[in-house]
Order: sequence, then structure tokens, then C-alpha cells
Amino acid sequence: MTNFWDSRFGGEDFLYGKEPNEFFAGFLSTIETKGKLLLPAEGEGRNAVFAAKLGWDVTAIDSSVVGREKALKFAETEGVSMNYEILDLINFETRPEQYDFIAIIFGHFPSAFRQELHHKFTKSLKKSGHILIEAFTKEQIQNTSGGPQDPDMLYSTALLEADFPELSIKKLTHEKVFLNEGRHHGLADVVRFIGTKA
Ligand SMILES: C[S@@+](CC[C@H](N)C(=O)[O-])C[C@H]1O[C@@H](n2cnc3c(N)ncnc32)[C@H](O)[C@@H]1O
Repeated sequence: MTNFWDSRFGGEDFLYGKEPNEFFAGFLSTIETKGKLLLPAEGEGRNAVFAAKLGWDVTAIDSSVVGREKALKFAETEGVSMNYEILDLINFETRPEQYDFIAIIFGHFPSAFRQELHHKFTKSLKKSGHILIEAFTKEQIQNTSGGPQDPDMLYSTALLEADFPELSIKKLTHEKVFLNEGRHHGLADVVRFIGTKA
């Protein structure tokens, strides 16, 4: 079945490039012990390939079949492997204490299921594991550097603080950054979050 993202990922080029998201890559590089990493809404695999090259055991999830195909080919050419599941995250079931790290990079979900999904991610994290999020804030509506135009799909620091009550928050900031990752290009309002499970 073709979806919105299948059409967007349909070209030869990688919509957000082949380099990992900077915030994700920076934090990942500080973690010495490589474990199990979950990347929900991973698209064409730029973050997954980067992490697999560092030695992480990577599972990506996305609803886009085209994104999966491109990600797996990309991984093959880079000499790494990953699990890549096709799943609409509205149907994600908790995987109790399975992952050392969960990173959601520009994964924007409707409020109808976002908070419950975030709770399931928390429950799927091992003790001492981390959740990292970079996402557009509600102020992004006034920028032209990408992201959904629907305020219901945009985030804020307060919203993420409320979504992850069980995590110890290590970083939670609203930042104005200059994005240079393919379609995400230009001045952007993002929220950057890192929470750790006690
Ligand atoms: C802006 S792209 C980000 C891709 C990737 N994280 C990156 O940074 O390159 C958003 C991704 O979220 C996925 N997505 C959106 N809603 C989804 C859902 N309900 N279930 C699974 N994937 C979803 C899309 O298919 C797309 O790959």
C-alpha cells in the first residue's frame, strides 16, 4: 500500500541526506557500551546506518515500505545490517525492558496516540537506558525548513516533560538551530530531549 511517505521517499535522493541527525550522532558517540537501539519512524535509515557502523544492534520501525527498501540497500552498501520492521506506530506494543536506547528523530505523531506511544517507549527501555528526541516545536509553523504544518503534530518542552514522567530528564531545550539535512534546511525551532530511566 502506498502512503504519503512512500511517495516522498520515491526519488533516488535521500530526503534528509545520508548523514545522521547531528544531535543524535553527538549523544550516541558519547555512549561507550553499544547495546540495543530502537529507531521508531526511521525513514530512509540515515541514523540506523550510522549507529550500526558504531556497533549498535539496531532495530528500525517505520510504516514506509519504500523507506525500508532504501534503508536496507543503504546499509548493504555500507557493509552493516539492521532489523527494519514495517509497522504503523499506532499499533506499537510495549516490548518490556528490551532497549538500551530509543531515539525518535522528527517522528511527529497526532496527540490522539502520541502520549500513549511515548509511555510504551518508556516501558520498552531497560534500566539506565535513554530516550532521545529531536522534533519540531509549535513555533516551526512560521519557518520554511520542514516539518508538519499541523499544530497537533508539533511539540513543546512542556509536552515532552508531561509525556515522560518516569524518566530523569538530562536535557530538555527549545532551540533555534540551522538545519542542513536535505529537505530540512534553514532556521528551525526544535525541541531536544534526553531522558534516562532510573
Ligand atoms: C520526517 S521523517 C523522519 C525520518 C527519520 N527519522 C530521519 O530523521 O531521517 C518521518 C518518518 O516518520 C514515519 N512515520 C510517520 N508516522 C508514522 C507512523 N504512524 N508509524 C510509523 N512510521 C511513521 C514516516 O514514514 C517517515 O519515515
